[in-house]
Amino acid sequence: MEIIIQSNPQTATHVAAQIIARQIRNYPSTVLGLATGSTPLMLYQTLIEMNLDWSEVKTFNLDEYIGLPFEHPQSYHHFMWENLFRHINIREQNVHIPDGNAEDISQICQQYEQLIKAAGGIDIQLLGIGSNGHVGFNEPTSSLASRTRIKTLTQQTCHDNARFFGNENDVPRHVITMGIGTIMEAREVLMLAFGTNKAQAVVDAVEGPVSAMNPASILQMHPVAKVCLDESAASFLEKSEYYRWVYDNKPAWQEI
Ligand code: F6R
Repeated sequence: MEIIIQSNPQTATHVAAQIIARQIRNYPSTVLGLATGSTPLMLYQTLIEMNLDWSEVKTFNLDEYIGLPFEHPQSYHHFMWENLFRHINIREQNVHIPDGNAEDISQICQQYEQLIKAAGGIDIQLLGIGSNGHVGFNEPTSSLASRTRIKTLTQQTCHDNARFFGNENDVPRHVITMGIGTIMEAREVLMLAFGTNKAQAVVDAVEGPVSAMNPASILQMHPVAKVCLDESAASFLEKSEYYRWVYDNKPAWQEI
């Protein structure tokens, strides 16, 4: 794992934006895995301002609530179009988000896996992390080999996401999420975390044992996992001085 600690969310976002922009410039038909939530908002804004050519880029979102109409302000379809897609020149047919309104959820989950394969797999998977260590909506105790499927959110996640819905009872209980096995097949994963409420999940993921109790800890087994943190999210890391030392002493040819 490469741990990149920056002084604030802006500079951490800048690092992540450089990684994604370089990928799109070097490989115009790149396949990106995307996340929603508060964490990537600034990154999407930064990418919009970079005026990249998205015409050949394909995207696959991690997850979607079950039963929310696409036009609902909190559906991840709505989130992605509002915060990224409608501002860039991506083609609608290249955008993929699980369909939380499908009649046969298990069928569309299988189809989603096939679509990712048919696109050649995901080049960079962007991730946030839940305060309980979830990635995508793979809640603690999710199988570390899981594939795209339906999940029930934990009470903690419903509580955390109540800020978007106004009322905890309005947060849908069920979601479709890429599995941990699906995420681990991406060629590179880029996880972002900001703020003190992520510090415990981050230290467990980075320095704790690999465990389904903190699904993000599986990234320790990924060959190319980058984690961009602000000071607050990094504040519980025991080896933070070492991570800073490594980053400050990177040979120029190694890139981020
Ligand atoms: C969203 C997702 C979730 C979020 C996580 C953090 O697509 O997959 O894992 O990344 O819940 O959410 P925020 O960024 O709102 O703190």
